Amino acid sequence: MKVLVYSAKAFEIPYLEKANGNRHQIKFIEDLLNSKSAVQAIGYDAISIFSADEACFITIEKLKEFGVKYIALRSVGHDNVNLKAASRLGIKVANVPAYSPYAIAEHAISLLLALNRRLIESNNRVKAYNFNLDNLVGIDLNNKTVGIIGTGRIGSVTAKIFNGFGCKLIGYDIDEDQRLVEDYDLRYTSLTELCELSDIISIHVPLNSDTYYLIDEDLISLMKPNVIIINTARGAVIKTEDIIEALKKGNIGALGIDVFENERGIFFKDRSNEIPDDVMLMQLNAYPNVLITGHHAYLTHEALTNIAETTIYNLNQWEKQMTSENELIKN
Ligand code: NAI
Repeated sequence: MKVLVYSAKAFEIPYLEKANGNRHQIKFIEDLLNSKSAVQAIGYDAISIFSADEACFITIEKLKEFGVKYIALRSVGHDNVNLKAASRLGIKVANVPAYSPYAIAEHAISLLLALNRRLIESNNRVKAYNFNLDNLVGIDLNNKTVGIIGTGRIGSVTAKIFNGFGCKLIGYDIDEDQRLVEDYDLRYTSLTELCELSDIISIHVPLNSDTYYLIDEDLISLMKPNVIIINTARGAVIKTEDIIEALKKGNIGALGIDVFENERGIFFKDRSNEIPDDVMLMQLNAYPNVLITGHHAYLTHEALTNIAETTIYNLNQWEKQMTSENELIKN
């Protein structure tokens, strides 16, 4: 099968090449998929895309016209693909449903620990031989209440880690997992109660029409003034404008994010010579109690291996005219 891999990054190519073992003819390009760059897929049976690529209605129509039959996502999230359009046009779409929940959960905890214990500020001081300890005071995590929004694969690993810290766990999900109740004493509650009671909130829901701007000024107004919010899910689960307002007023303690509402077209490239004209990103960057990483929670050896192997597995199944269990459109 001829496969065009959009948004190919140098660090993932060796993993994909190893998993492929010369089976498919793969071309890697750095370009993002959008309605303009879809033309590059002429002559390819399949394309592979990541979270910043945009497979909207128009793009999918073009891909169909150019002969593309399959889209292999190298991500869990698929909010960037118009599945209805793909289904209507007979294009199969599969994702990598669980490449390493540990990678993402551990990154969420890293953001929290770095923020809580002021690790970046402390290290900057030490590098400048400033050993003053003012304004570096954090909190013990032991006995604190952690609210987990979305207790699926990543949320449940996050719950396990927080349980290890001795935290009290509360959770919100439309599909409750009784194992978490039994194993980690997690108590399911409403989203409003979770916001009221939590010292730390970690977000792990997918982005969809129900979760878009789930965390807005109404919910933020219920939160404790020192709450630490961590988001490694998708940027638009939080209404960024409202969180900036809360930061301005000192209504939240800290914010750690690996994802940003406007990340598409900004993240995944060195932009130090063409600083993005994104006011919200600049505002967030200006706060000392905001820690941002550029969507790199998935960057572990294990996650990249699983992403590559599952992506190639999905392509193999299609080449053999078989269904992959990772297909997102069930007929
Ligand atoms: P999952 O499907 O295992 O869990 C998601 C959970 O959210 C499920 O339990 C589901 O019932 C719940 N949920 C869905 N809609 C909801 C709603 N409206 N209200 C409350 N709960 C709702 O997914 P997984 O693997 O845990 O991934 C979660 C998200 O993390 C992905 O959708 C993706 O956007 C993001 N992600 C981010 C990565 C990164 O590098 N920063 C990497 C991988 C995933």
